[in-house]
Amino acid sequence: MKIAIIGAGAMGCLYGAKLSTVPGIEIYLLDVWKEHVDAINANGILMEEQGDFITYRNVKASTVAEDAGTCDLAVIFVKSTLTSSAVQSNKAVFGPETIALTLQNGLGNIELIKEVVGESNVIAGTTAHGATMLGPGRIRHAGSGKTIIGELNGAMTQRIQQIAQTFREAGMETELSDNVYGLVWDKLLVNVGINALTGITKLLNGELLEHPEIVELLEDAVSEGKEVALAQGIKLGFPDPVAHTKDVCKATATNKSSMLQDVLNHKKTEIDMINGAVVREGKKVNIATPVNKTLTNLIKFIEKQ
Ligand code: PAF
Repeated sequence: MKIAIIGAGAMGCLYGAKLSTVPGIEIYLLDVWKEHVDAINANGILMEEQGDFITYRNVKASTVAEDAGTCDLAVIFVKSTLTSSAVQSNKAVFGPETIALTLQNGLGNIELIKEVVGESNVIAGTTAHGATMLGPGRIRHAGSGKTIIGELNGAMTQRIQQIAQTFREAGMETELSDNVYGLVWDKLLVNVGINALTGITKLLNGELLEHPEIVELLEDAVSEGKEVALAQGIKLGFPDPVAHTKDVCKATATNKSSMLQDVLNHKKTEIDMINGAVVREGKKVNIATPVNKTLTNLIKFIEKQ
């Protein structure tokens, strides 16, 4: 199976490196960061994992999708701010049968990818792994978690079973879901509670829970998102998303969230696809989302600094 990873950031490298250990899998990492691509081609991916350093050499990287050619699977891992442009500029990996899998944070990725590659070629899911970019060709695997994938229409097809099996052979715990929109919202609500608040306060995920005034905002932001999801008829996997978000804070206590990493690196954040998405979707169903609006505007202000 030939797999393209579109977006070789920390998470893209993590999945690319792990999948490259499965016999019969050919991995192409596609990214615009030339220095990183050159480092991977010269030395492989160096991954720090629980204090050990492992090099994954069985990977190829390129800035040009034509180098990979048509693939069986394209896993999309770019920031959700770049989804459309990244899928467009890597169109060379998509043939009529290529499956596009989004495991990105935020709302709206499925719709954007569908527009480019067609609905029947898209599958979606979530990942609970954590990873940090350390430098060109180097990442840290910060925490393991489940990958859950599924078809948009909930069917248990052979293709998702085969992909899940390949992920498992790569050592990644993987499950199937018949409710990917619920999954995406489950993950969205976690990001709604953690990401903007860590970006604003500069706290680590676990430290959010040490401050009652921050916990109150986390609870309110997630509760607003839950109301919006329920009003839209989304079937959430976690009946109590606030409790689930707090569990994720504990499980990823020492993580710098992706949004905090973006803020510290002066990069554009995914705020519009996270808290901003709750505000937008809330308007459609007449639900007020003042806490999410406030968090969105504060992050937008920070982005301008
Ligand atoms: O965006 C992130 O950083 C992650 O999705 C999460 C779960 C908040 C852990 O840091």
